[in-house]
Amino acid sequence: MNLKEHVLSKPLPKHIAIIMDGNGRWAKQKGMLRAFGHENGTKSVKTAVETCAALGVENLTLYAFSTENWNRPKLEVQTLMKLLVSSLKKEIKTLQKNNIKLAAIGNLNSLPAKVYKELHEVIDQTKQNTRLTLTLALSYGSREEILNTVKEISIKVKNNIISPEIIDESIINEHLYTRNLPDVDLLIRTSGEQRISNFLLWQIAYAELYFSDVLWPDFTKEHLYNAIIEYQKRERRFGKTSEQL
Ligand code: FPP
Repeated sequence: MNLKEHVLSKPLPKHIAIIMDGNGRWAKQKGMLRAFGHENGTKSVKTAVETCAALGVENLTLYAFSTENWNRPKLEVQTLMKLLVSSLKKEIKTLQKNNIKLAAIGNLNSLPAKVYKELHEVIDQTKQNTRLTLTLALSYGSREEILNTVKEISIKVKNNIISPEIIDESIINEHLYTRNLPDVDLLIRTSGEQRISNFLLWQIAYAELYFSDVLWPDFTKEHLYNAIIEYQKRERRFGKTSEQL
């Protein structure tokens, strides 16, 4: 069996989320500017999206820009925003051809107008697609998302739309940016760092975590297969004993 057949022989994660880390270090190792790392990072984005679509993974969520990333040098922020617009323009055809729906989570109003416009155009044009939902986390921070959820629910309580007694996990889920997505099954972080960095804190409650030492621009299809194979080996107990499963 080759790696792909191996992956397909067992149940797939329904939702993979990736913290794409290490672009800067990758470029530095090559004596290049950080922007070169981000440019090459977009190639790995393409590979990850196409691999998930080919396997039949239904949801892929990528941490493309965090709320904290606004604090990077202005030039780097501009480079990332430009890359985003050019990638969206370039890849719209591939998204359509592969029946991929684009979505975005985060404080999208804080994005530059050009990015916001392009993003919403692609979201609109791909909204009927059903094979894979590709969600980009942009100007995203999990605490901000939870804060926003608390505010929205509080306003509904104040206006007698919701009574506090009925607030449960599903009501919280319905108010998160990820309201249309299932919980994360597999969270991958590249570049050897082992932390969550304010990404999908509520949604990863039962996710399997997979940390890879590979820097994001070097993360290939085979690396993704191996992450899924590792996920498939783990026994997800959701608090139960092995015997109860
Ligand atoms: C982390 O590497 C990566 C980012 C902050 C941005 C990720 C963006 C891309 C891969 C390109 C554009 C995305 C799309 C969806 C087209 P880092 O800069 O933190 O690397 P370092 O930790 O080595 O400095």
